[in-house]
Amino acid sequence: MNFKGCDIINIDDLTREELDHILSVSSKMLPLMKKGSSLCKGKILASLFFEPSTRTRLSFESAMSRLGGKVVGFADPTATSEKKGEVLADTIRTIDGYVDIMVIRHPQEGSAKVAADYADVPVINGGDGGHHHPTQTILDLFTIKEEKGRIDNLSIGFCGDLKYGRTVHSLAYALAKYKDVKVTCIAPKALEMPRYIINHLKMNGVHVIEKESIEETIEDLDVLYATRIQKERFGSEKEYMDVRGSYYIDENIMSKAKKDMILMHPLPRVDEIRYEIDDDKRTVYFKQAHYGVPTRMALIALLLGAVK
Ligand code: NCD
Repeated sequence: MNFKGCDIINIDDLTREELDHILSVSSKMLPLMKKGSSLCKGKILASLFFEPSTRTRLSFESAMSRLGGKVVGFADPTATSEKKGEVLADTIRTIDGYVDIMVIRHPQEGSAKVAADYADVPVINGGDGGHHHPTQTILDLFTIKEEKGRIDNLSIGFCGDLKYGRTVHSLAYALAKYKDVKVTCIAPKALEMPRYIINHLKMNGVHVIEKESIEETIEDLDVLYATRIQKERFGSEKEYMDVRGSYYIDENIMSKAKKDMILMHPLPRVDEIRYEIDDDKRTVYFKQAHYGVPTRMALIALLLGAVK
């Protein structure tokens, strides 16, 4: 499969075969994480973070270093010409001449697509507003595959902020490409999964159930994917305060789950997963965050044509 020169903007642009191929290259990157490699020696990644990030930015930068490449970029856009009024298209056209590949995170929905339109080098979407987060999905799929041995034929629950959470939007689109998947969306009315995503899942043969409480459904799940309420995307503080703390996962909830269920979360968590359950073997969120490195190594190497 040849990914050289491609952009990664929306997970739905990839076929199941392409996703499976990225996951298999990610497995090959696991041993290279400690050993290092020179697969991308001489290449430069631009790491352009217009929004806060810990895991996505640092795992991309770590991935490029593990591949033997270099990184330039910023984590604080107020130190760039955006502050002087430069538009995104001009910033991207400039950086395009400095690097071989770029990852961009930006609060505006559609911004990564704009960047891809103006750049000749491959552009990777590291999260565009409440829209998509395709590389998080790749590490989420990788985690499910590693922990459950498959992605087909699983019962997966999403809970929390399904309205603004871009990680669940992208993961839902990806799961629609797999077989016999059951998706349970658990959220208060104000945070429910957008209708267009529910319809997309149903049209692609996914069995979708909607619930308001975790207790009602937890015993059926193979995977529970929790999310943070996306405070920064609410129209007003009041809107946020109305739903804040509306659900959490504690020992009591975990006691009702299957013995082999896995609990995932893209992190950061705020108060939705109690610290008391961190030692429960079914919680895999830190492992999941660590899988960000091999999966992003695979993506960078594929888009630069360093591996096939
Ligand atoms: C997520 C994001 O930025 O969308 N974090 C991440 O990339 N791991 C989730 C979140 O911020 O809640």
